[in-house]
Amino acid sequence: MRFGVLTGGGDCPGLNAAIRAVVLRAGRAGHETLGFRDGWKGLRDDLTMPLPGAAVQGILGRGGTILGSSRTNPFAKEGDAEKVLATLGREKIDVLVAIGGDDTLTAARELAKRGGKVVGVPKTMDNDVAGTDWTFGFHSATAVAVDALERLRDTAASHHRAIVLEVMGRHAGWVALATGLAGGADVTLVPEEKYDETALLAHVRSAASARGYALVVVSEGIDLGPQRGSTGGKDEFGHELLREREVGAELARRIEAATGIETRSAQIGHIQRGGAPELFDRILATRLGAAAVDLALAGRFGEVAVLQGPRIRGIPLEEAVGTPKIVTPDWLDLLHTFDA
Ligand code: F6P
Repeated sequence: MRFGVLTGGGDCPGLNAAIRAVVLRAGRAGHETLGFRDGWKGLRDDLTMPLPGAAVQGILGRGGTILGSSRTNPFAKEGDAEKVLATLGREKIDVLVAIGGDDTLTAARELAKRGGKVVGVPKTMDNDVAGTDWTFGFHSATAVAVDALERLRDTAASHHRAIVLEVMGRHAGWVALATGLAGGADVTLVPEEKYDETALLAHVRSAASARGYALVVVSEGIDLGPQRGSTGGKDEFGHELLREREVGAELARRIEAATGIETRSAQIGHIQRGGAPELFDRILATRLGAAAVDLALAGRFGEVAVLQGPRIRGIPLEEAVGTPKIVTPDWLDLLHTFDA
């Protein structure tokens, strides 16, 4: 068989480990792999990268993706889907491995509906793909956010300030939740809960009076009600560019105005997405990449490899896309145990 592989959507640590696993697992079974550059753009425009085993040596622990990525939606414009199918034919690809989050896997499902042979590998620092316990990228990216929070603790304590840390995560609060829990925030705001300014101010005052400073973690996806708002920028899948709303900076202004406590904010943005994958993400990406090849070899096209409990298994792409996995009440209950 001849495998194709692409990485689509926002990059995250672990992508190279997954690419390597696909290439080496396929190679071990006697099959070759061709890389497509920059996500679905590479499929549409036939931009390829040969991936002999030697090309993936030494990439396991490297951040980013050697294939490049993009948010190109191959089904947004008329005629693009045909171009994708034509590329698969021209390059003699028997099965495509699509590594990505909800958007990339949705495009993979669309391709499968049009007769394309495709299997999926879920990734995203947002951890919001349904059907899998974790996506790789999440642990590494959130560790960066936790490190940021710890650094902010030092300076907040020195200056007796409140500091708001804004983290990514789109409309799922997993990154904020885990950052707040692992970094010991005084209050953590996630999109899954209605914003309550009175409660926020109470937590900040309580932390500041108990120990002279306060730490707030906020997810970029939270709805603060009337605010400066975004510029209206959207990506090709129609997603609002959330960081432009600057909810962290807005919260800092509100906290300072209401409490008189000097307040700063930090938006760490894409710093979360770079850097080497941590142990968990390396192993998960490796397992999922290998499992996707196994699904393809078993003829289980249209499926995506996922982690459920200790096991990796295949589920239909249909079950993984469309409805993001959001933070559940039991996690929120745990989180609020530690509010100041
Ligand atoms: O989906 C991953 C993610 O990092 C989100 O957390 C964030 O909202 C978005 O991508 C940012 O996208 P871009 O890199 O296109 O600015």
